[in-house]
Amino acid sequence: MTDFDSVELDLASRDAACLWHPATHFRDLESLPPLPIAAAEGCELITSAGERILDGISSWWTCLHGHGHPRIVEAVSKQAARLDHVMFAGFTHAPAVELAERLLAHAPREASGESAYGKVFYSDCGSASIEVAMKLSFQSHLQRGEPQRRRFATLANSYHGETMGALSVCGADAYRELFSPLLLDVVQLPAPNFPGHRHADLAEGRGHDDAAADAACALLDAHAHELSALLIEPVVQCAGKMAMTGTGYYARICEHAQSLGIHVIADEIAVGFGRTGRLLTTDWTSLRPDMICLSKGLSGGVLPLAATLLRRGFEDDFKGAPSRSFMHSHTFTGNPVACAAGVASFDMLVDERIPALAPKIAAMARALESVAADCPEVRAWRQAGFIGALELEVDAEAVAGGRLGLALRRAALEAGVLLRPLHDTIYWMPPLIAGEAEIERLREASVKAIRQVCRAGESTKTHHRR
Ligand SMILES: Cc1ncc(COP(=O)(O)O)c(C=O)c1O
Repeated sequence: MTDFDSVELDLASRDAACLWHPATHFRDLESLPPLPIAAAEGCELITSAGERILDGISSWWTCLHGHGHPRIVEAVSKQAARLDHVMFAGFTHAPAVELAERLLAHAPREASGESAYGKVFYSDCGSASIEVAMKLSFQSHLQRGEPQRRRFATLANSYHGETMGALSVCGADAYRELFSPLLLDVVQLPAPNFPGHRHADLAEGRGHDDAAADAACALLDAHAHELSALLIEPVVQCAGKMAMTGTGYYARICEHAQSLGIHVIADEIAVGFGRTGRLLTTDWTSLRPDMICLSKGLSGGVLPLAATLLRRGFEDDFKGAPSRSFMHSHTFTGNPVACAAGVASFDMLVDERIPALAPKIAAMARALESVAADCPEVRAWRQAGFIGALELEVDAEAVAGGRLGLALRRAALEAGVLLRPLHDTIYWMPPLIAGEAEIERLREASVKAIRQVCRAGESTKTHHRR
């Protein structure tokens, strides 16, 4: 046994004795225990055994510039030495101001050319930014004399986080169902799903005339009087098996909601920061949501940080008597170190990452197509920017005892790549610095995983091709 092995064993057993991991069944811990990670560099995680694993999903869609980018590391360490933290009520600091200025300057613009957004409200995780947006929406209507606007509309299959308010507006049953007795009563809208969505569709406005868009608009009409806001993940429902709903659908139902006085809250937590090839996915439309929620890539993916961007003038409803102020105060609001990471990350994103994305997006399309050509189990592949997904058609029960995602994840890890398939959907969301070599590793690991898992029970497997 090498030293590395014993370190790994020791950490794994100490972990098992004291920790409870998210989104992990205790039953699965024996077959796939948490892997001790000692370091990370660029697109790779390095285990305490010294193995390098390609981070094919940017560690839950966070790191944009890879791990340990020297500019972010420097910004964080300098900031931590200068000012680590100060409460954000009654105090301010340069990193918070500098990051907010950048976000507003690059947010969607009015026809006049000025930013359509006027304020940034910081919080510390995506769910919190959603809670902030929901509360702001309700309070704004209330203070405008419309207290009956207290329900929220959301899309089927959506995901907005797992605190109670955010969970209430999730459409995906897997997260919501168990807790439904505790949750807000929402209006759920149908959404289209284009299993063969292509990157070029983003500019085409797909979904505008879809029957689901008609039905969603009709539901908005029917509930307009009581709706406070519509929450929506622009185009890609990431946790919802990377379902792609189309820019046309997105723009149409949001514009319709706004015409009815319903706020639009765009959840760009996962799809913002270049993931679909532009800074925001909203940038593929001319829409100006009332609020935009950001997190994950906001700090470059290295520290917890979130923000809710507000349309210019939104704050006017909160002026006047002290009782009209917004009471929401997370302890780590606007943490200076996280904001400093955000400033360093944002500049690199705008100057270096986004301008370099087009050929990488094309390379990813070729790789997805090639996996589909090599594996008849791939029913459809789809893409929006640097997000790709392969939807499989296999008998999950026969080949993996119903735990298809887990089996594929294990097989991909054996091939040196972190993938975390969502049941029958393998997806790729690597750091934006990933190039052809990394895309090739994603391709190879996906083919290996599909072959290894889906052909395990050759006699019982069903193959379909569309
Ligand atoms: C679209 C979307 N909204 C909200 C969230 C919640 O963010 P957090 O996990 O930081 O609370 C997520 C997390 O995956 C997400 O993908």
